[in-house]
Amino acid sequence: MAKTLIAYFSRADENYFGGAMRYVKVGNTEIVVNGMKELIDTDTFKIEMKNPYSPVYMTCIEEAKKDLRAKARPELVSLPESIDEYDTVILAYPNYWGTMPMAVFTFLEAFDFTGKTILPLCTNEGSGMGGSERDIKKTCPGADVKKGLSITGSQAANAKASVQKWLSANGLL
Ligand SMILES: Cc1cc2nc3c(=O)[nH]c(=O)nc-3n(C[C@H](O)[C@H](O)[C@H](O)COP(=O)(O)O)c2cc1C
Repeated sequence: MAKTLIAYFSRADENYFGGAMRYVKVGNTEIVVNGMKELIDTDTFKIEMKNPYSPVYMTCIEEAKKDLRAKARPELVSLPESIDEYDTVILAYPNYWGTMPMAVFTFLEAFDFTGKTILPLCTNEGSGMGGSERDIKKTCPGADVKKGLSITGSQAANAKASVQKWLSANGLL
C-alpha cells in the first residue's frame, strides 16, 4: 500500500514575527506539520542537527549563512534506517537564505529518492519557496518533485485550509 512520510526541519527559540523578535517553544514549520498530522495518517521524521544553530536569532542567521556559503552538510542526530517503504515524502522546512537549511540537504543526500514523489512545503517570511524546489530536483534527480506549498511562517497556525487543498490536489486526501 502507498505510504507517506513527513520529513521536516523546524527551529524553535527566538524568531522574527512580522516586526518583532519572540521566543517560541514550537517552530512555524512544526506547527504546520502538526496541523497536517490531523488531516493525514503518516509517519513523521524530524530532521535535527547534532549541533543546532543558536537559539539567538541574529546568531542563527549568521551560522546558517556560513553553512550555506560553505555548502556544509551538518551532521544529523539520526536518520531513518530506510525510506524504502514510502512512495511519497512530504518535505517541510523553513526558507533559509533563499533555499532549505543545509541539514535538509544532508537528509536528502542520505537516500535514493528515485521513483518517489516529493511534496515540498516551505514556511518563510516573504521569499516563498525561493530556489528550494530547484535544489530538491537537483539533489534528488530520480524523484517526481511536485509544486511546493509556501506558507507565511507567522501565519502557521492558520495554514490548515491551504494545506488541506494542497494535499487534496496531490491525491493525499
Ligand atoms: C537562518 C534563517 C534564514 C532565513 N532566511 C529567510 C529568507 O531568506 N527568506 C524568508 O522569507 N524568510 C527567511 N527566514 C524566516 C524563516 O523562513 C521563517 O521564520 C520560518 O517560518 C521559520 O520556520 P521554523 O520556525 O519552522 O524554523 C529565515 C530564518 C532564519 C532563522
